[in-house]
Amino acid sequence: MTATSTPAAPKPVAPKPVAPKPVERLARRPLPGDLGTEAQIARIIRVDQAGEYGAARIYAGQLSVLGKSPVGATIRHMEEQERVHLDTFNQMMVKRRVRPTALQPLWKVAGYALGAATALMGERAAMACTVAVEEAIDAHYAEQAERLGPGESELKATIEQFRAEELEHRDIGLAHDAELTTGYPVLYTLIKAGTRAVIWVAERV
Ligand SMILES: [Fe+2]
Ligand SMILES: [Fe+2]
Repeated sequence: MTATSTPAAPKPVAPKPVAPKPVERLARRPLPGDLGTEAQIARIIRVDQAGEYGAARIYAGQLSVLGKSPVGATIRHMEEQERVHLDTFNQMMVKRRVRPTALQPLWKVAGYALGAATALMGERAAMACTVAVEEAIDAHYAEQAERLGPGESELKATIEQFRAEELEHRDIGLAHDAELTTGYPVLYTLIKAGTRAVIWVAERV
């Protein structure tokens, strides 16, 4: 009698552990020469906190002049939103251990001075300042939101929400005849270029 060898039942093979796919925090991988992911995210939070701080200071400066005028309540509404934006980034900085910009004391004075100076030129000039600043911030937030991947969906959603509110501020400025300010093109161009320069510096210092 021949022993029939029955084929051994295949041993169950333990499935190889599959490493979970990392959720991308940036929309594209850093290229050689780029900052690493962590540094890029820190830079985003640092510049946004600085920007919101500056914005809150601009509106505070405007309110020091126009607080009791008919546009006072409108400016106060924008200032309150800026303070919410600022608080959000302040909390994010603490949670993620991101250092603030070293130039915070400068933004404190410069933001307030810009707000007060434009307000002293009149209500329309103050609104022209708002239009110029908020347009620069809108472009900046749009660019940031585009760079963030699904791993940073919360930060991205925050930026998109704030961006919508900055556009609301821009529209408030336009609705208050910002463009009718004497010398509007010059004022607008200077303040917008200045805001872009400040953004550039705040990302780095
Ligand atoms: Fe803001
Ligand atoms: Fe704003």
